[in-house]
Amino acid sequence: MATQGKLRLGVNIDHVATVRNARGGAYPDPLRAARAAQEAGADGITAHLREDRRHITDADIEGLLDVLNVPLNFEMAATDEMQKIALRHKPHAVCIVPEKREERTTEGGLEVAREENRLAHFIAPLREAGSRVSIFIAADKRQIEAANRIGAEVIELHTGAYCDAFAEGHWEKAEQELQKLREMAAFGHDLGLEIHAGHGLTYDTVSPIAALSQVQELNIGHFLVGEAIFLGLGPAIEEMRRLMDEARNG
Ligand code: PXP
Repeated sequence: MATQGKLRLGVNIDHVATVRNARGGAYPDPLRAARAAQEAGADGITAHLREDRRHITDADIEGLLDVLNVPLNFEMAATDEMQKIALRHKPHAVCIVPEKREERTTEGGLEVAREENRLAHFIAPLREAGSRVSIFIAADKRQIEAANRIGAEVIELHTGAYCDAFAEGHWEKAEQELQKLREMAAFGHDLGLEIHAGHGLTYDTVSPIAALSQVQELNIGHFLVGEAIFLGLGPAIEEMRRLMDEARNG
């Protein structure tokens, strides 16, 4: 089935804050990065307020809501503290992600199937407050069905396993992971869910994901912030946008 509209790019600015926090102080400023991303054609800005505030801070979220002209996708764990913050700010979108204190990054998708009841109650007030709720999950039928049952409008498929296999040169595994993403994007879309994807995407891995007709949004951060060192943030984003459009239309 065809997808409506163009493929959106959400730029995740967490790691601008990581570099700032390495020294304390104010530089580089994530808000400035968000504005630059917006000017370079980002369709949204994504920021993950982690429990330990290792990168984005509460003040960053408030600042983003003040300065952005594009929607904020607020990533958060399913905790009471984060729910209160989201209900206070009512961001355009909320993406529920798993979070472990010791992990370097969000390692896997959310375990929805085993926590269906709790998560259904957790997301209901967020939806009532007007935020579009997305659930970050592995390309797994059980999890997608559970996300649909709890009332999520969007699922974001975790592309990390595909990107890791690609980075390590395990081509067969990368192709298997890609195949799972293809099948599960179609499966989720047929259930009526809006499909997003992200994690670990680079210029080398984005095209097959951007080509999936059911996918409506990609969220990309770490690679773009790294590439900004060499190209500048605007040009780094523009190149990603070009590759996405080429894959989508070509
Ligand atoms: N999508 C979600 C739900 C995430 O949690 C993250 C960051 O961990 C990303 C996308 C972006 O991943 P990356 O920074 O690897 O591009």
